[in-house]
Amino acid sequence: MWTYGGTYPGLTLRRPTGETTRVTFMNNLPPLAGGKTVHHHGNHSVSADDGQVTGSAFLFEPGQTRTYTYELIENGEPERGTMQWYHDHRMGETGMNVWMGLTGLFIIDDPADPGTLPSGEYDLPLVVADRQFDSDNQIQYFYDPSGVAGDKVLVNGVYEPYLDVADRKYRFRILNGANSRSYIFTLSTGEAVTQIGTESGLLPAPVSRTALDIGPAERLDIVIDFAGKLGQELYLMDAYQMVPLLKFRVTQHAVDLSAIPATLRAVPDIGQPTVTRNFSFDFTSNHWTINGLAFDPDRIDAHPVLGTTEKWVFTNPTGSTHLVHVHDVDQQCISRDGGPCYPWETMKETWAVNPGETLELKLKFTDHLGKYMLHCHILEHEDDGMMTQFEVVAPSSVSAQTLNLSTRLKVNAGDNVLIGGFIITGNVAKKVVLRGLGPSLGTAGVPNVLADPTLDVRNSAGTSLIKNDNWKDTQRGLIEGTAFQPSNDLESVVVATLDPGAYTVLLTGTNGGSGVGLIEIYDTDAPGGAAELANISSRGQVQTQDNVMIGGLILGGSSNNSRVVVRGLGPSLTAAGVAGALTDPTLDLRDANGARLTFNDNWADDAATATQLSSFGLAPNNAKEAAILANLPPGAFTAILAGKDGGTGVGLVEIYNLH
Ligand code: C2O
Ligand code: CU
Ligand code: CU
Repeated sequence: MWTYGGTYPGLTLRRPTGETTRVTFMNNLPPLAGGKTVHHHGNHSVSADDGQVTGSAFLFEPGQTRTYTYELIENGEPERGTMQWYHDHRMGETGMNVWMGLTGLFIIDDPADPGTLPSGEYDLPLVVADRQFDSDNQIQYFYDPSGVAGDKVLVNGVYEPYLDVADRKYRFRILNGANSRSYIFTLSTGEAVTQIGTESGLLPAPVSRTALDIGPAERLDIVIDFAGKLGQELYLMDAYQMVPLLKFRVTQHAVDLSAIPATLRAVPDIGQPTVTRNFSFDFTSNHWTINGLAFDPDRIDAHPVLGTTEKWVFTNPTGSTHLVHVHDVDQQCISRDGGPCYPWETMKETWAVNPGETLELKLKFTDHLGKYMLHCHILEHEDDGMMTQFEVVAPSSVSAQTLNLSTRLKVNAGDNVLIGGFIITGNVAKKVVLRGLGPSLGTAGVPNVLADPTLDVRNSAGTSLIKNDNWKDTQRGLIEGTAFQPSNDLESVVVATLDPGAYTVLLTGTNGGSGVGLIEIYDTDAPGGAAELANISSRGQVQTQDNVMIGGLILGGSSNNSRVVVRGLGPSLTAAGVAGALTDPTLDLRDANGARLTFNDNWADDAATATQLSSFGLAPNNAKEAAILANLPPGAFTAILAGKDGGTGVGLVEIYNLH
């Protein structure tokens, strides 16, 4: 087997809560076993130490070590005591690695838990997990996306073991460490046991149960009372397969001073959810999926804000039960299938969602920022794709989003077409809508408009990615009936999902036509996403009166202010070889009512602004160029680029959202 520390289950770590614990793992496996990553399941670890599934910063290869730090702190206080566990979590290989033996227990002791519960030698952890043995009694792993199971159920790595017990109460903390198999625990006497806890620590009150179902990764904290049974034998059974798992031989007498208090531990008050997210655990295009998508380490499906509480709704349209596990923080049950939750599932981190069921939970994102997983703990479902990531983001990072940027200018032919540029930052693709307008400006009273605009979106290498003449040409279905549908059929719209990078948009008149045109760029993703429209620039022939260049931006998505830099360039274009550039550009920033907020002729006019522009690397190259630094609330703004004293020429407006 592959083991943690030479035993299966691996070495049990037992630590007092609130005390930072560092665990160094050394990968002594054969080179073929590859890099490993360790997830401390149930712990509230920092993202980097949560057992990220891929990437050289997280995997440690054969011959390498990795040290994980576990602070055992949650919401600023010692984490609740419970039995957690650790296991491998490598992308696509978790099932194999766990099957081969990479599982161990991590018990957190908590002085806040009642001291009267059975303890010491009367408090025993049990790992229940099945395996298949071949004719040489070896374990081999044959991947099967429906779930890998074996015909021998092991308890703490032993098949059909026995335990000599005294005639008193025992506490058993039980982990279902199987890859895919669920069990229903019963006692062979038919008697009830007392459940006192779950994955997430003690229940508010003990619950008496005669049959306890437990899916992969779930834990049960139970008390079995052997009082009055001296000399008897009984079994912990799996009523699912009707097989005995563990024989108890009541061979000794002992005084029992332990007691189960009538109340154990209240669930923490995490407030009311402010955001609802839905996760459908589904089967799509022959794979196990979440919301129709298979796992992609480069995709993050939710960005909860640190310190907030959300409602997560799990549904299961498939014919098999999924065991949904959420990393990072515990979840509290709101409702199961429209009704009340079971009394033994007040707070957990792994949930059985049966076919057709809907489970509503709430969870509060505390302490740590960063990426965490959420997946089915039937490990082959996870490996097949039923996993995704969420990223906890800082409240301050959700400053206003640039929802829209636009540029209006007289479009000429040749070098004097209108060129818009924008930059997408972050590490995921972003959906944008680009519009090229002309005729509808005429309706709005602008004279001499571009009669038939054409859009051309290019990448940073100048390669044309998408062109559109008339919006109905190619993407009509995506545009019609949306807010982006132009009022005139000759206008252009492009809907695109673009990777982070720099892009340019060219607005030209069809057949060399000229006139005033408008480029608009819209960010259509929800606020707080991992990618952003960070900058837009437009370049074109700046003339006078109605033919000055107008850059617009709309900030929104949150009530916070954004720091925005607007630059108006001319002379530096000359330096870059552009003919006929504006010699002395000026910038005029206006609010939605047209009221002037700031005017700038030369960017260094105000020394304090100049220093800040330099520190952002945004100081223009030429002293005659203009720049404005503004702290803007959500709303619509326009920046007007004109030539000083009526000067004309090619100019460039750039808008940067710095947050
Ligand atoms: Cu025990 Cu992400 O898992
Ligand atoms: Cu976990
Ligand atoms: Cu599943």
